[in-house]
Amino acid sequence: MPVVTAIACSNIALIKYWGDRDTDWHIPANGSISMNLDGLFTLTTAITAPQLSGDQIIIDAKPAIKSTQQRVVQFLDRFRQLFGIYHYFRVESTNNFPSGTGIASSASAFAALSLAVTTASGINLSEAELSRLARLGSGSACRSIPGGFVEWQAGHDHASSFSFSIAPPAHWPLVDCIVIVQEQTKQVSSLEGHALAVTSPLQSIRISHADQRLSDCRKSIMSRDFDLLARIIELDCHMMHAVMITSDPPLLYWQPATLAVMQSVIQWRKAGLPVCYTIDAGANIHVLCEGEYQDQITERLREIPGVIHIMHAKPGGSAYLETDN
Ligand code: PMV
Repeated sequence: MPVVTAIACSNIALIKYWGDRDTDWHIPANGSISMNLDGLFTLTTAITAPQLSGDQIIIDAKPAIKSTQQRVVQFLDRFRQLFGIYHYFRVESTNNFPSGTGIASSASAFAALSLAVTTASGINLSEAELSRLARLGSGSACRSIPGGFVEWQAGHDHASSFSFSIAPPAHWPLVDCIVIVQEQTKQVSSLEGHALAVTSPLQSIRISHADQRLSDCRKSIMSRDFDLLARIIELDCHMMHAVMITSDPPLLYWQPATLAVMQSVIQWRKAGLPVCYTIDAGANIHVLCEGEYQDQITERLREIPGVIHIMHAKPGGSAYLETDN
């Protein structure tokens, strides 16, 4: 009875994935770049046993709610079909951070699940192959397979759409101060949001400039140019949220405290503090700085009304098996 435990960290998109070119295969409309988040992870155990007559999905020691169960089983069916596997799985998964709040819990979850189920089935995939598989669960999950700073090459089909590391975690000691301003699960998931992207008149403009932003972001990471990183990731974040707000129906994830943090960060940077922000599909906001500024920035963030708590993450490593440790 193979029992395999895998761990994968979440990631924060610096250049965003928003909208699919092929929904079924999660081929994105544009490439994206992210940083893995050390210490914010999903731990998933996959068990295969002949007596299982169906998949069992356990999240935080309880049977998964129906929608999660369906999404995971759909992914497992896809995996079985692609790799000619005929057995069921018992999957036990826990996150050490809140899910559904814009901290990419589906990214770490499907990355850990991909590594756990392939290993439990005796299938040894390369990093690129594993990344392709994880993408089928949740697009951003393909970026939680490689380590450090990661680029997801959009590609045009299953084979050409995967992620790879562009710099290891130690390359740039950035810190993501994850500012929680809302603890409830967001009302519209990113999966539903991607489908709305095409309804915005701004989506085609966002996509047409994406290659330039990807190139600037890559350059800022390679040369550790914080000023360029700050300008490019805030621009990219604003463009994605502009698409969301102008979709039909509109998607507005921000809360008053989200905006308060954005305005403070802009002012602090104008005053000479190297700090910037980005926001995924949720109200919570990721404030990025170099390690030496973490304490000063955290203290300032705590004073902003509406800030509930702050987590910190350095660049994280690749997905791994518990037995690798
Ligand atoms: O992977 P998904 O379907 O959860 O979509 C992720 C969407 C964003 O977090 C908003 C952007 C991104 O690139 O991670």
